[in-house]
Amino acid sequence: MRTIAVINQKGGVGKTTTTANLAHAFAIKGHSVTGIDMDPQGHLAAHWGCYRRDDIGIDKVLLGEKTIPQVAVAARDKLHLVPAGGGLKTIERGEAGDLLASSLKQALSSISSTQEFTFIDCPPASGLLIDYVLSAADEVIIPVAADYLALRGLSDIIETIREFEQKLEKKFSYWVVVTRFHGRRNLSRDVREKLFEYFPDNMLATSIRESSVLAECPSFGKTAFEYKGANFGAYDYASLARDLMNGECYRGQE
Ligand SMILES: Nc1ncnc2c1ncn2[C@@H]1O[C@H](COP(=O)(O)OP(=O)(O)OP(=O)(O)O)[C@@H](O)[C@H]1O
Ligand SMILES: [Mg+2]
Repeated sequence: MRTIAVINQKGGVGKTTTTANLAHAFAIKGHSVTGIDMDPQGHLAAHWGCYRRDDIGIDKVLLGEKTIPQVAVAARDKLHLVPAGGGLKTIERGEAGDLLASSLKQALSSISSTQEFTFIDCPPASGLLIDYVLSAADEVIIPVAADYLALRGLSDIIETIREFEQKLEKKFSYWVVVTRFHGRRNLSRDVREKLFEYFPDNMLATSIRESSVLAECPSFGKTAFEYKGANFGAYDYASLARDLMNGECYRGQE
């Protein structure tokens, strides 16, 4: 099982949009996929139209009261959701007692033989929840919105990844994904080239374009693949899934 965390402490860069659509892209291709909503805001569940007020989820798993299969719900064919659960906020604030950082990793072993991919949608913060996630993940996707503040804070994420690599004596594969890309804007293209300078070997080939379908998706509880007709969102995320499958990296502006 590939365990892939979608992380950026900056808000609104497309973490949830990427998790929701990329996970669905793999499920449509026939892979078994689980999405974990590690954000107390519960946006992944909402994006998939699975929101329920009484949800229990990864909160109970972290507390050792439930296993992942006990709290996972079917979101689509081949696609399971582990909701955040109402107690995740308390855990995030460190008010739920001493939890083992490795508990998420242990919990994931219960699905590692049945699932091919697990995507973890993270909150826009650093802190305890991110520590749990990095203790469990092997790969990290960092969505970066192609705007003028894009690069700010990126070094913090890379530093955190490095810290965990040292602490846990493991090496992450990490991938920068350009989101909210406007092909006709110089700013968008400049930001992408700047990112390429910093991450020549770690940027996935596909940039996710800004599109009205992706902006509308969450309010309908749908992914781009469930919209009628072809659309940029579905096209880009299917392409990104192929990049992730094949390790296809960005090679610079043509
Ligand atoms: N490529 C895109 N084109 C148009 N709108 C987008 C695109 N990507 C994301 N959005 C919209 O931008 C908003 C923020 O996206 P999203 O929720 O995925 O970001 P996030 O990083 O998960 O935010 P948070 O940090 O709050 O969890 C949403 O309303 C989403 O629909
Ligand atoms: Mg989000």
